[in-house]
Amino acid sequence: MPKLIDGKKIALEIKNELKVKVEKLKKEGKDVCLAVIQVGNDAASTVYVNGKKKDCEYIGIRSLSYELPEETTEQDLLNLIENLNGNANVHGILVQLPLPSHIHEEIITQAISPEKDVDGFHEVNIGRLCIGKESFECCTPAGIIQLLKRSEIEIEGKECVVLGRSNNVGKPIALLLLEENGTVTIAHSRTKKLKEITKRADIVVVAIGKPKFITKEYLKPGSVVVDVGIHRNQDNTLCGDVDFEDVAETVSAITPVPGGVGVMTRAMLMYNCVEAVCKEAL
Ligand code: GUN
Repeated sequence: MPKLIDGKKIALEIKNELKVKVEKLKKEGKDVCLAVIQVGNDAASTVYVNGKKKDCEYIGIRSLSYELPEETTEQDLLNLIENLNGNANVHGILVQLPLPSHIHEEIITQAISPEKDVDGFHEVNIGRLCIGKESFECCTPAGIIQLLKRSEIEIEGKECVVLGRSNNVGKPIALLLLEENGTVTIAHSRTKKLKEITKRADIVVVAIGKPKFITKEYLKPGSVVVDVGIHRNQDNTLCGDVDFEDVAETVSAITPVPGGVGVMTRAMLMYNCVEAVCKEAL
């Protein structure tokens, strides 16, 4: 069996470290505060948002909850964001995606002040990441780096292949792996001879949104696999973009689904909230 990269354990470790930091900040008179905005009542979003609020409570971060009706206008939402941008007691602003179709996500994510953009979606933060400057890093990619580092998997000098080129995962994880001195290739739906590329990799990050797509034929023996996908099987269990059972005997380490990358996203959101306060002091 390969080594299981335990997201649950590592996420808890991070949250416990943050708890200590938040207590210390409280003693200095700084009360970390996250504004959480949900528009409409998409069931999956409600589950995610509740999870984020629960994490805040665990760590000692104050969360302000804005549950807005589906028919909220883009302007109403922009007004709320402007108000929160100007509120010195609010350190992070999170607008849960997806938004109803009459609201432009791009306009909303770019309206959040880069200093409060704890999702790391603002172009200023993405641009800063691109030139190796300190920024709010997108939570899922930042979580992947923590999973690797805290599992003592070296990135420097390693062949890293990222499957997928989304703005929230594929592109930023490629930049973060590069920042860690990995040799990075991004492959995507138009890539030719995909197996030849993935077979070169020491570390493969799979974020293509296709259940059980990656089988052992794609992998080099002993490689490390990070599975970002999450899908529901017909029997209601979950699976990733990687066929776990098929690759288990080939890889040296792998993130399970669930309990791998997914749980790290929330932990890194909390990390960014605490960072928002620490950066303020600079
Ligand atoms: N919807 C699904 N994942 C995310 C996320 O990481 N951030 C936000 N804001 N919305 C999401």
